[in-house]
Amino acid sequence: MDILEVRGLTKRYGSFTAVADVSFSIGAGGILGYLGPNGSGKSTTVKMITGLLEPTAGEILHRGRRVRDDVVAFKRSIGYVPEEAQLYGFLTGWEYLEMVATLRAIPRATFERKAKALLEAFTLFTHRDAAIASYSKGMRQRIALISATLHDPELLILDEPFTGLDVTSSIVLRQVIERLAAAGKAVFFASPAIEVIERLANRIVLLRKGQQVAAGALSETLRQLGYTRLEDAFIGMAEETDTAKTAAQIVDAIRSA
Ligand SMILES: Nc1ncnc2c1ncn2[C@@H]1O[C@H](COP(=O)(O)OP(=O)(O)OP(=O)(O)O)[C@@H](O)[C@H]1O
Ligand SMILES: [Mg+2]
Repeated sequence: MDILEVRGLTKRYGSFTAVADVSFSIGAGGILGYLGPNGSGKSTTVKMITGLLEPTAGEILHRGRRVRDDVVAFKRSIGYVPEEAQLYGFLTGWEYLEMVATLRAIPRATFERKAKALLEAFTLFTHRDAAIASYSKGMRQRIALISATLHDPELLILDEPFTGLDVTSSIVLRQVIERLAAAGKAVFFASPAIEVIERLANRIVLLRKGQQVAAGALSETLRQLGYTRLEDAFIGMAEETDTAKTAAQIVDAIRSA
C-alpha cells in the first residue's frame, strides 16, 4: 500500500493553471524527487498535499484513504519542511522545538532526549538558547528539519530542503533521508537542482509550467526521455532559455548608464 498517492492534482488561479493534473505515488522506502524550474508549481503541489492550499481538482490519498476524510491522522503522520520556514524569531531554538513538541503532544522526557540528540547531530546544541532571529539561514533550515522530524513521521514532505545548507550539512541530510527511507519511511522532496535529485531520488516527477512532463523510476525516466543524463533532459524539456544570452542581457542591463 502506498503511503502517499496523488491523483490528478490541479490548482488553478482564475485562468492560470499552476499545477495541472499531476499524479504520482510513494511507497515505504520511496524517495520521490519533484523536479522543476522556478515557478513550475512545486511549492503549489506541496501546499496542496500539506493542506495549506485547497486543490481545484484531484485527490490526495494516505495509505489508500482520502486525506480530507481524516486530516488529523494525516497531519500526525507527516513531517513538513516548507520552502521558507516561518519560525518565531523571538523564541530560542530550544523554545521553538519545545512549542512544536507540545503541539505534537510529545511526552516531555522524549522531547528532551530527542531534541538534545538532534540539536547535537545538527551542530546546533550550543546555539539552543539563542534567539532564532540571530540564526543563519542554514541554522534556521536545520531547526526546521528537526521540528519536522521530532514526532518520527512516516512521510516527509520537504520543499527544497537543501537550500541554505553547507556542504557538510547537505551530505548529512542526504544520508539521513536515505537512512529514513531504508527504515521504511516515504520521502517527497522538491528541488530545482538536477544533481540533487539525481543523487538522492529513486523516482522522479519532472514538472514544466505545472505540467508533469515525465515521471517514473529515475533510470527508466531517463531512458524514456531518450537522454543519458537528467541534466540534458532538464535543459531540453524544462528550460527554453538561452542561458548565455540571458546572462549577457543581465550584465548589459547592470552596466548600462
Ligand atoms: N495566489 C496565487 N495566485 C496566482 N498565481 C499564483 C499564486 N500562487 C502561486 N502562483 C503562481 O503559480 C506558479 C507556481 O508557483 P510555485 O511557487 O508552485 O513554483 P515553484 O516551482 O515552487 O518555484 P520555485 O522554484 O521558485 O520555488 C507561479 O507562476 C506563481 O506565480
Ligand atoms: Mg517553490
